[in-house]
Amino acid sequence: MAQVNLRKIVKDYDDVPAVRGIDLDIADKEFVVLVGPSGCGKTTTLRMIAGLEDITDGEILIGGDLVNDVPPKDRDIAMVFQNYALYPHMTVHENMSFGLRLKKVPKDEIQRRVKAVAGILGIGELLERKPKQLSGGQRQRVAMGRAIVRNPKVFLFDEPLSNLDAKLRVHMRTEIKKVHQKVRTTTVYVTHDQVEAMTLADRVVVMNAGLIEQVGTPHELYHSPATIFVAGFIGSPAMNMMRCGLEESAGALRLRLHGDISLPVPAERVARYRSHVGKANLLLGLRPEHLTETRAQTLPGQAPFDVTVEVTEPLGMETLVFFSLNGGEVCARTNPSANLQPGKRAPLLADLRYMHLIDEASGRVL
Ligand SMILES: Nc1ncnc2c1ncn2[C@@H]1O[C@H](COP(=O)(O)OP(=O)(O)OP(=O)(O)O)[C@@H](O)[C@H]1O
Ligand SMILES: [Mg+2]
Repeated sequence: MAQVNLRKIVKDYDDVPAVRGIDLDIADKEFVVLVGPSGCGKTTTLRMIAGLEDITDGEILIGGDLVNDVPPKDRDIAMVFQNYALYPHMTVHENMSFGLRLKKVPKDEIQRRVKAVAGILGIGELLERKPKQLSGGQRQRVAMGRAIVRNPKVFLFDEPLSNLDAKLRVHMRTEIKKVHQKVRTTTVYVTHDQVEAMTLADRVVVMNAGLIEQVGTPHELYHSPATIFVAGFIGSPAMNMMRCGLEESAGALRLRLHGDISLPVPAERVARYRSHVGKANLLLGLRPEHLTETRAQTLPGQAPFDVTVEVTEPLGMETLVFFSLNGGEVCARTNPSANLQPGKRAPLLADLRYMHLIDEASGRVL
């Protein structure tokens, strides 16, 4: 097992910059997920760690050793791809043991390892089958098994679940987490699915256009996004972004959302935001769960205001309520028993203890 360090990693394909200077320290045994939209450089980063792609600039260290010029087969890493890349003419057992046989590992040692790993993955009954006799989820396990038996320093996963249907994805997500809890191998996992990222990762790395936007635990990214990109990317339904002005009167601050809607900034945020009074391009970021029906008791930091409900989406455990503000759509998560109706005025409650003030010009959360 080993730590992985990326130092100012750059990758240009001819004149196309794919990765534009990434610094990242991944601890031994850590499970790190790279997430971001299509084309942001996730696969390129993973392939550079694997040695499948030359790096244009920077340094990669695995287990403290500089590996820039070490070929892939000598890096002691195992990669699981989206398409699994199993050998169709080999049985599951042969697929899983292939790397070990190449390395001339003794036969009884191979038997022992394949059996143990097949047990962990629940594929002990399938060892004599060929890949075409397996379901998608079973193939995915074999691909993981093939990586695990090699007992590498680092696992690299590139969207390993994206070929599976929604239900199986959720199931395999849990399986991957269980396997990591057992084997504790340092893992770098790529996905464009923020839910997958949040559920699997010790730390999530949000990438955008070849750069890292933010690195943090799932909790940190959700509750303290550093940029408008992270604020909008993490969470579903997405965080509401409402154009606002920041006004001061008698030492208190208010958020002016609309001609007749202004909400008080919680007292504990006043010092932090005071210097932004009167600024243009401010957005109030508030997650849908912090916009609800009104409650019998209102706590300090919570503020009621009236809206005209446009659409409701009853989901059973909650009802999403949509309304417009300054031409933008806003989503609230309400208790179904509040029974808010489309076309009607309704009081909502904004919980501003969880607000984010965002400078749209710089893209920073203030
Ligand atoms: N072999 C290549 N030659 C030229 N450009 C490439 C090559 N591979 C990737 N790119 C470009 O580099 C950028 C990053 O690609 P990359 O495959 O790393 O994205 P990604 O984040 O994995 O996206 P996805 O979620 O779609 O898999 C993209 O703009 C892509 O078009
Ligand atoms: Mg990719």
